Amino acid sequence: MPMEASTLRTLNQFAVDLIQIPSTEDLFWYVAQNVVGRLNFVDCVIYQANEEQTDLRQVAAWGDKNPFGRNILNPLIIPFGRGITGKVAQTRRPVIVDDLLSDQNYIPDTRPARSEICVPLLLRGRVVGVIDSEHPDPQAFGDVELEILDTVAAMTGAKLELLAEAQRSAQRYRELVASHEQLSEEVSARKALEAKLFEARRLESIGKLTGRFAHEFNNLLTVVLGNLEVAEADPSTAAARQGLRDARLAGERGAKLVRDMLSFAQRTRLNRVDADLNLIVAGFADRQPATCAERLAFDLRDGLWPVSVDAKAVDEILKNLVENALDAMGREGTVVIRTENVQKLMTEEPTALQGPPPGSYVRLSVVDTGAGIPRERISQIFDPFYTTKPVGSGTGLGLSIVQGLTHQMGGTVTVVSETDNGSTFRLLFPAIK
Ligand SMILES: Nc1ncnc2c1ncn2[C@@H]1O[C@H](COP(=O)(O)OP(=O)(O)OP(=O)(O)O)[C@@H](O)[C@H]1O
Ligand SMILES: [Mg+2]
Repeated sequence: MPMEASTLRTLNQFAVDLIQIPSTEDLFWYVAQNVVGRLNFVDCVIYQANEEQTDLRQVAAWGDKNPFGRNILNPLIIPFGRGITGKVAQTRRPVIVDDLLSDQNYIPDTRPARSEICVPLLLRGRVVGVIDSEHPDPQAFGDVELEILDTVAAMTGAKLELLAEAQRSAQRYRELVASHEQLSEEVSARKALEAKLFEARRLESIGKLTGRFAHEFNNLLTVVLGNLEVAEADPSTAAARQGLRDARLAGERGAKLVRDMLSFAQRTRLNRVDADLNLIVAGFADRQPATCAERLAFDLRDGLWPVSVDAKAVDEILKNLVENALDAMGREGTVVIRTENVQKLMTEEPTALQGPPPGSYVRLSVVDTGAGIPRERISQIFDPFYTTKPVGSGTGLGLSIVQGLTHQMGGTVTVVSETDNGSTFRLLFPAIK
């Protein structure tokens, strides 16, 4: 007898419902329930095979024999090969028993049945379980029931495959997430280490600076106190007056030292805006005292590209460079301050590895014709506290400040100099175009 149209419809619906089922456990219960409820079997028990393929374990049961709903109190365990279900698991072939009373394989249950049908659940050639149904009458199962249960088993097997695949990809996803987490942990551990290292270096350089500052300041205090002592001994003498003047000079240098240290330390407080360097240079020139102004010459090109700088910082830079230039020249000579647009090409200065990358820049140069810097000292002049000036007259912070401020504004500073042949300090600031 062929399958009825209503049964086919039920099986179709069954296939559609399977799509929604989220887990193996739900799947087994759904199948058991629907084999009974929709496909008109009296009961249905599903057994799952263990990994080792030695035992079947009852995982779902529906019908008169299991009144506990979705619950199995004492799940039956049946070894492969034993009883009808065990045989089906072992041979992977369905079985129909017409009369259980004459079958020696029958394992009687709480309520004895007369006929039984059992089909294997296969997943890629492996038995993953069996679907079993019993009936109180003999010869209750025929080809139609076998075809129905076979179809149900095939659909269930396909769904099991999908669930297994979903589980595998969830596992792969978890592994991926875990290895990603490990990676980001490693990255943040490395970042933390770098931060520590940076902090250690910073502390080391602050330590050095503080040490030198203390030393420098102490020298000045010695001068102040020594001179005051001389003055106190007999305030009316010329030596006392000279001592007071010297003490005052040393005090002023101390004040400058503190100012320099502060501007050295406060590098982070720049307020950069798009600006015309020519205007800043002009403002600087205006504020110079006459003695200094008369020794300055300007070569400021028109149409300068704007740059992103802090005007006060540029002022501070110019002040230091001009001061150094005047010191290097003694009483004679003029300092030239020059501005110009510069297009740095790829082919330019192939040896200047550390120079800025090709692009548009505005160059600010301070040129003198003074004593120059011996080649072997050039690498030191930007070091904090490096000075060749007499004790008490230079702190050696000027160029450190120049370099620090320039870098902070995205610029670079280089120097070209030769002994007795003057020096040119060049600052390059990226143009804003
Ligand atoms: N234009 C220059 N010509 C020759 N040597 C220079 C020039 N500018 C700087 N130097 C050398 O570099 C050293 C360091 O300069 P820097 O401005 O940092 O400190 P300083 O001028 O000695 O002291 P400070 O600027 O703190 O008063 C100077 O002592 C000098 O030897
Ligand atoms: Mg200086």
